[in-house]
Amino acid sequence: MIGVFDSGVGGLTVLKSFLDFLPQYDYVYLGDNARVPYGNKSQETIYNYTKQAVDFLFARGCKLIIIACNSASAKALRRIQQDYLPLKYPGQKVLGVIRPLVEEIVSENNLRSKKDRINKVGIIGTKATINSEVYCKELIKLDPTLEIIQQAAPLLVPLIEEDWSKKPETKMILKKYLRPLKVRGVQTLILGCTHYPFLLKYIRRLMGKKCLIFDPGVSVARSLMAYLSRHPELAIEKTAKPNYFFYTTDSTEHFKELGEKFLGQKIEKIEKIEL
Ligand code: DGL
Repeated sequence: MIGVFDSGVGGLTVLKSFLDFLPQYDYVYLGDNARVPYGNKSQETIYNYTKQAVDFLFARGCKLIIIACNSASAKALRRIQQDYLPLKYPGQKVLGVIRPLVEEIVSENNLRSKKDRINKVGIIGTKATINSEVYCKELIKLDPTLEIIQQAAPLLVPLIEEDWSKKPETKMILKKYLRPLKVRGVQTLILGCTHYPFLLKYIRRLMGKKCLIFDPGVSVARSLMAYLSRHPELAIEKTAKPNYFFYTTDSTEHFKELGEKFLGQKIEKIEKIEL
């Protein structure tokens, strides 16, 4: 069983890709809707919340946990991997979403000729993700020649959650956030937040055809596929009749209503829990 954690429903955009690419596994999704958003919280708070989620998902029998939330991946993952897991869950694995997105850009670059190389990378995300500079650090580790331009886009999450994705006001705000990146001529843009795939069509339109924009869910799913084949010792069994179970820390009705839009399918098995 694979655990997927997010601060709310946004991580369902990642689970959606897992179900497309790897539908034969059992999944447990946990959304901490009672305490969302994480994107404007302190490092300590995000770490403590993420630790509780990890405890919960391991207690439910997950053999591997994916932190689908960029803010939690940026502010808590490293500490969880380096300090918490070795003490409390030796041998068990928790992965995030940042490394797969960074690797996708770098491997794309390796396929390109010198003249078509990507030199300028743009990143948008919540304040927590952008302030952590974790995308910059990971990118530079793999390719120190890259120029990176970041932009926090904190208004997008609430607008998407209000189902305002298609409204002109949202497009106007999006345009404002993307303008500095466009002016600087970024050749690729990392969507560093679970919610932004909802705006993928508009983002691609605004940034223009020449700017490469991956769907982050797809990048993370591809990376998970490769990870599972490299780690047969995890023994995560495939099943003919997979189970998808959902937990939320807030109202199940609200989770279902919003979550079904994010996931693109019905949410049947759902339970409210406390962390
Ligand atoms: N899931 C968060 C992220 O990807 C967005 C929502 C939040 O701020 O909690 O950063």
